[in-house]
Amino acid sequence: SRIAVFASGQGSNFATLIEAQNAGRLGAGRIELLVSDRPEAPVAQRAADAGIPSLLLRPKEFASRELYEVEIVAELQRREIGLIVLAGYMRLITPTLLEPYAGRIINIHPSLLPAFAGKDAIGQALDYGVKLTGVTVHFVDGGMDTGPVIAQRSVSVEENDTPESLAERIHQVEYELYPEVVGAFADGRITLQGRISTTRDK
Ligand code: GRF
Repeated sequence: SRIAVFASGQGSNFATLIEAQNAGRLGAGRIELLVSDRPEAPVAQRAADAGIPSLLLRPKEFASRELYEVEIVAELQRREIGLIVLAGYMRLITPTLLEPYAGRIINIHPSLLPAFAGKDAIGQALDYGVKLTGVTVHFVDGGMDTGPVIAQRSVSVEENDTPESLAERIHQVEYELYPEVVGAFADGRITLQGRISTTRDK
């Protein structure tokens, strides 16, 4: 399966997915493209270093969100991309992209959804005072972190946690979980009935 990763920031999950692929842990998945809405983001350099082509666009230079996505869809189709993996992509996806890729877009979010959707999920969890948070991988729909859940892992909040220390532990869990789920997705082992997803073992 030919995969495009979408990312806006640091790209540590992107780098982890590349490493997993190189280690043979991404099943049939092949990362063929990085798409970023922030050409200056560190993730763009990571793609260049890994020899992965990238499509770097500034949404503000387009007349609408739809036209920005029309350009992305054209590039995805040109490269015969089958699956989209969001990894810190900080934008909502519109029907322009959702319709051609229905059921073929996944995201990772640093909380146990539906708790703490949206921005700064880690800060939200600390402010709320939960003792348990975690990581969710889910299918993407038009909402903010609202699509069907594929996999979740819990992470305890410790008494002395800062946003940085909790983020660090959450990241470590993301680096384990996302390659596993992306591999299953690429191998066609994840199915969806209504909101209920099932992942077959290898
Ligand atoms: C991750 O915590 C992910 O859950 C969230 O954005 C962050 C991306 O981090 N959606 P990175 O860019 O992969 O380092």
